[in-house]
Amino acid sequence: MKYCKDFIVVGKEMIRSDLFILKLQYQEEVLPEIKPGQFVEILIKDKKDVLLRRPISIHDVSKENNQISLVIQIVGKGTEELSKIEMGNSLNLIFPLGNGFSLIGNKVLLIGGGVGAAPLLYLARCLKEKGTAFNTLIGSRDTIQLFNKDKFSDLGPLHIATENGSCGFKGLVTEHPIMEEDFDAVYCCGPTIMMQKVASIMEKRNIPCFVSLEHKMACGFGVCLCCVVDTDTGNKRTCINGPVFLSSELKNF
Ligand SMILES: Cc1cc2nc3c(=O)[nH]c(=O)nc-3n(C[C@H](O)[C@H](O)[C@H](O)COP(=O)(O)OP(=O)(O)OC[C@H]3O[C@@H](n4cnc5c(N)ncnc54)[C@H](O)[C@@H]3O)c2cc1C
Ligand code: FES
Repeated sequence: MKYCKDFIVVGKEMIRSDLFILKLQYQEEVLPEIKPGQFVEILIKDKKDVLLRRPISIHDVSKENNQISLVIQIVGKGTEELSKIEMGNSLNLIFPLGNGFSLIGNKVLLIGGGVGAAPLLYLARCLKEKGTAFNTLIGSRDTIQLFNKDKFSDLGPLHIATENGSCGFKGLVTEHPIMEEDFDAVYCCGPTIMMQKVASIMEKRNIPCFVSLEHKMACGFGVCLCCVVDTDTGNKRTCINGPVFLSSELKNF
């Protein structure tokens, strides 16, 4: 079930000049069920040259407060416009969209790269609630991209890999020693090249690896066919059959 509703901005934190977090208050009684890995489509109001809604992953959900939060990187007109929103303003969202992560196994590894790690926080929260043992590995170029490491470490063991060695292990996530441990599943979000490398390592070890694709999207609910990916079982739409796919089912990944 999808909803199209207004949320009120009750929190806005600029992390850096091109990155911010929005906390959004749902106006109805109870937030619908949201799966980790699902996303919203945001309407950019009063901006004639930004016609399409913009897809953004759900970063966190607070059921107690009826709130969701989003981490947004400014890359163009839509996200620039969103960065200007003020506290108390409303945003219209279609949500929850996409399939989300399937929670399988007893011991899993979450791997995120930079801002792409956004959907993993709510995944970590859900795994903790379910009692699944998990480790989180966040890779980043430098410490500036590690804006949410305290939130992750509050939920479970956190490992960090920075390319310049300014925090945690020096190197890429794929070189981190935690990668050698055994896991029932791996959940990966971030730059495509990182997800491809992680998937290739895990596929060789027969560990199911779930990746969340950030394909370009228009409608976000299966109508325009602009987000098609090639899979073992034919073409699939990233917006409704994804954005989470088992890496082994994706062709040319
Ligand atoms: C399922 C999903 C979840 C996403 N989650 C987040 C999130 O949590 N936080 C976040 O900051 N961004 C996220 N994105 C990316 C975000 O949707 C785009 O950055 C945004 O739509 C760009 O809009 P714009 O108008 O600012 O930029 P535009 O003017 O539309 O484009 C600016 C630049 O960004 C590139 N771009 C546009 N859309 C995408 C896209 N979907 N993927 C990769 N590059 C793109 C364009 O090629 C162009 O180079 C997600 C995308 C998808 C599909
Ligand atoms: S974005 Fe329109 S079909 Fe997927």
